[in-house]
Amino acid sequence: MRIDITKISPAEWTGDAAALFIFEGEKEPVGILGEDAASVVMERMTRMGFKGRPDSVLTVSMPGGRLANVYIVGLGSRKGATLDSWRRGIAVSVRQAEKDRNKVLMVLGAEPFSPEVSSALAEGALLGEYRFDKYKSKDDTSETPEPLESLLVYQGDEAAVARGAVIAQAQNFARDLANEPGNVINPSTLSEKARKMAEDSGIEFTLLDEKKMKDLGMNGIISVGGGSHTPPRLIHMVYRPSGEPSGKIAFVGKGLTFDSGGLNIKPGEYMRSMKGDKTGACNVIAIMKAVSELKPDMEVHGFAGVAENMPGGGAYRPDDIIRMFNGKTVEVDNTDAEGRIVLGDVLAYASRQEPSVIVDMATLTGACVVALGPYTAGIFGNDDELAASFRNASKITGERVWELPMDDERLKKKIRSDIADVDNTGGRYGGAITAAMFLREFVGEGVKWLHVDIAGVDNSDEEYGYYRKGATGFGVRTCLEWLSKFENR
Ligand code: BES
Ligand code: MN
Ligand code: ZN
Repeated sequence: MRIDITKISPAEWTGDAAALFIFEGEKEPVGILGEDAASVVMERMTRMGFKGRPDSVLTVSMPGGRLANVYIVGLGSRKGATLDSWRRGIAVSVRQAEKDRNKVLMVLGAEPFSPEVSSALAEGALLGEYRFDKYKSKDDTSETPEPLESLLVYQGDEAAVARGAVIAQAQNFARDLANEPGNVINPSTLSEKARKMAEDSGIEFTLLDEKKMKDLGMNGIISVGGGSHTPPRLIHMVYRPSGEPSGKIAFVGKGLTFDSGGLNIKPGEYMRSMKGDKTGACNVIAIMKAVSELKPDMEVHGFAGVAENMPGGGAYRPDDIIRMFNGKTVEVDNTDAEGRIVLGDVLAYASRQEPSVIVDMATLTGACVVALGPYTAGIFGNDDELAASFRNASKITGERVWELPMDDERLKKKIRSDIADVDNTGGRYGGAITAAMFLREFVGEGVKWLHVDIAGVDNSDEEYGYYRKGATGFGVRTCLEWLSKFENR
């Protein structure tokens, strides 16, 4: 779908369809549709009792009229509406316009769209049209409508629309990677996808293979990957600005291309969906792509620890003691708590580059989903200001996050080991926090660090707003929003 700004008067436009946003209890801007269309729309709104409630969309058909369809999108009250209300509204309109076999959709508001709303409209439209249907055979009777050709944003902000498009395309790229199954994406193929992205985007790319990691003493990631036929990898990408960088930050992602649990094998219903255990890594790869296009004046590093957790003959075992890259030893209680072991090495390695901030994303714990539900990510860290800035960014992107506490010294004792420096599990209670406490052991001195547990939010089991069933790419936009504010502070 192309997205263009337009100044053509909607009252005179003879196109396919228009999407009109209105706040709850207000009638304007129906008038800007022009008298002919406005009278039909008003009549329809009254008859259907349409009030502009949040997430409500009214489809008005006008056979033979100047416009084939008008979609009236409710934003809720002016006070309650957020940027995400616009994103979800345009996503639902785009999908409805496709179903109604329209090709061009004009989007209208009461006033010219602000840069923030312009960006949100581009994001919502592109996220909404996303599909993962490459494995579905096409036949003539297919009921899947063609995608829209073009979205016209009436009185939008051009630069903001372009920026929103870059961000949404990155999120869709993360969804594309994460949706691929484990027989297609393994540590080696994911690394090659990242390499191709880096080459196409002109960013530095280094791949640490198994041998290199063994030489460096990265026994955490090596142990976790041991049971698989496809050996583990560490991806390191770097974006450097053309001028003197104003700072250095790093993103780190958990990339378990499949998590069977290992020898502590997961029961069937829990193993299902574990192709999604690479989402943190997919997000980081996608963020680096967007960064190469948005060109911040910061040096940005992207790291991904990529492995497959399988119960093969080379698998690591419960009771194993692993010496990690930073020298600390880990006693393995449960091979299914593998993400923290992989990330321990990657966080220590990333710290060696001396970034001022590390943000990691990981589908780390089922406990996080139990604590916060499947629509809110957990955040944890060692710096209040960093956590607050990330939370503020998330309010703009609509990706919900909530901070969990890291200062419970009694809980910290749960990851003590009798014979090693740390144990890889901390028991059932506070499991998301003890996992984050484990990660903290591997963050370098003086580095500000934020951990985002995206278990649960990485995947949607329902169609909602701009999500469809499947990978969400949750986290990509918040990281990019946070980065842009960090850069400009
Ligand atoms: N990848 C899982 C966590 C997960 C669970 C992600 C559900 C998405 C949805 C992780 O590796 C895992 O298995 N964690 C265990 C830890 C336990 C063994 C301490 C868990 O959460 O059960
Ligand atoms: Mn696991
Ligand atoms: Zn896992």
